[in-house]
Amino acid sequence: MSVHEIEVTINGTKYREQVESRMLLSDFLRETCGLTGTHVGCEHGVCGACTINLNGSAVRSCLIFAVQVDGQSITTVEGLAKDGELTPLQKNFIKCHGLQCGFCTPGILMSTTDYLQKNPNPTVQEIKEMLSGHLCRCTGYGGIIEAIQKTIEENSKELEHERR
Ligand code: FES
Ligand code: FES
Repeated sequence: MSVHEIEVTINGTKYREQVESRMLLSDFLRETCGLTGTHVGCEHGVCGACTINLNGSAVRSCLIFAVQVDGQSITTVEGLAKDGELTPLQKNFIKCHGLQCGFCTPGILMSTTDYLQKNPNPTVQEIKEMLSGHLCRCTGYGGIIEAIQKTIEENSKELEHERR
């Protein structure tokens, strides 16, 4: 068994831990760090439930080994809210009933947050294409799309307001 020490910053906190070389990042987050908001569904890159943000990009944590993130910076769903205040996207998921069991939700929130930072004004078709990387067994996606659209509208209103 090969064990390595890694240091990684997660949601602004430094973790220094011993990990087996074959440990998946998703398992490291959940089991070693106790950050169980990152969900594990398929464990082979299909369902999107395990999506986190690594150095500014949404990635699937089940496709990365924990040793690969040594020295890097991660945000998980636990790191989205600031000082207990949910992000507008999170609030809109609640308002628009964008979830039922919530299993897929953390991954979708992580992907969408990253996506909207890079593409602030996507079409519905583009939103659907982004969501095609996430499997939700509950909602039929209607509420999820609505929540994302509402967030885009709010963001652009806020931007307009700032420009005035
Ligand atoms: S658990 Fe990683 S994509 Fe499904
Ligand atoms: S809300 Fe249940 S899987 Fe998406």
